Amino acid sequence: MIDDKIRIRKKEHISGFLKGVGESDNGFGDVVLFNNSFPELNFQEISLETTFLNKSISAPLMINAITGGTKEAEEINRDLAYIAKELNIPMAVGSQSIALKYSDAVKTFMCVREIMGKEGVVIANLSANKSVEDVKKALEMIEADGIQLHLNVPQEMCMAEGDRNFKGIIKNINHIKDSIGKPIIIKEVGFGISYETAIKLREIGIEYIDVGGKGGTNFIEIEDLRYESSKYNEFYSWGIPTAHSLLMTSTAYRECNVICSGGINKSEDVIKSLILGADIVGVSGVVLRTLLENGRDSALEVLRELINNIKIYMMLLGKGSVCELKDNSYMLKGELKEIEEYIKKY
Ligand code: FNR
Repeated sequence: MIDDKIRIRKKEHISGFLKGVGESDNGFGDVVLFNNSFPELNFQEISLETTFLNKSISAPLMINAITGGTKEAEEINRDLAYIAKELNIPMAVGSQSIALKYSDAVKTFMCVREIMGKEGVVIANLSANKSVEDVKKALEMIEADGIQLHLNVPQEMCMAEGDRNFKGIIKNINHIKDSIGKPIIIKEVGFGISYETAIKLREIGIEYIDVGGKGGTNFIEIEDLRYESSKYNEFYSWGIPTAHSLLMTSTAYRECNVICSGGINKSEDVIKSLILGADIVGVSGVVLRTLLENGRDSALEVLRELINNIKIYMMLLGKGSVCELKDNSYMLKGELKEIEEYIKKY
């Protein structure tokens, strides 16, 4: 039986997420795009198809890691998997550490692969401090196409029961990379990957990075809401805004496959992410909130609309396919321009 403390924490993450103010500036307002009056395209022929983890997907969009482990979490996972399957986009499950400890939690993750079928892209999730054996078990549990190893130091530090020792994590990631034959995605959870972190990941040959920047779900606030009175208010603004982190990561490590996530809930930000160098964009908060407040069909509709609006932006820019977006011109202003200047020092 799952320990009550863990079950309650999972519940509190969802209720804290719903209660929290969350959203802050994701930095994409500083990217300026220009209208193309001669797009030379037929809207029906614009394609969002791309590949991710060696499978073909219908849009450069994924449902990012959220939950698993409890009965309520299984319901959420089932709904999210249904949505991902309908849209033929990837889905990452939430941290599977609960299922490594309690066998009755396994089915709450396995259902995602069952619903998405063999063709679907399903991604496992664990903390980057786990052992090779645990990573292998998490991958096998859901026949995953790859695994996200998450980095969440700020969250752990604001959790009474959180980890306090973060020595040896990069060495551990390197060891995992050398020991499993599946792609590894190193992922932040809303605090952003810095230029120097991206360089460290390049040095050990990690091929996928999810920048997980600041701008949406705020895990310091979510953890803080679990206390009777606020303890960590001063850290709420900690983190690298998503657009800044994306620019840093794609500049520091050009060959990397970059997933851009953190506060992305409109198609304009998806387009800007793809132009700034992302291969695919991850969403969590926007889909979870709609699912919990208005149900599965509304959440599906929100993503359908997002996808349609991405296509409209592609028409406005005169780009017929996802790979063409990387060559699109843009102008940077404000803080993002300063970040561009700042990273020239490296
Ligand atoms: C998350 N996220 C997350 N990430 C991860 O790697 N493992 C996990 O178990 C979880 N759990 C989780 C629970 C809940 C309730 C939320 C809302 C989010 C983080 C998520 O994948 C993503 O990185 C952040 O939420 C930022 O994206 P959004 O929400 O701003 O789109």
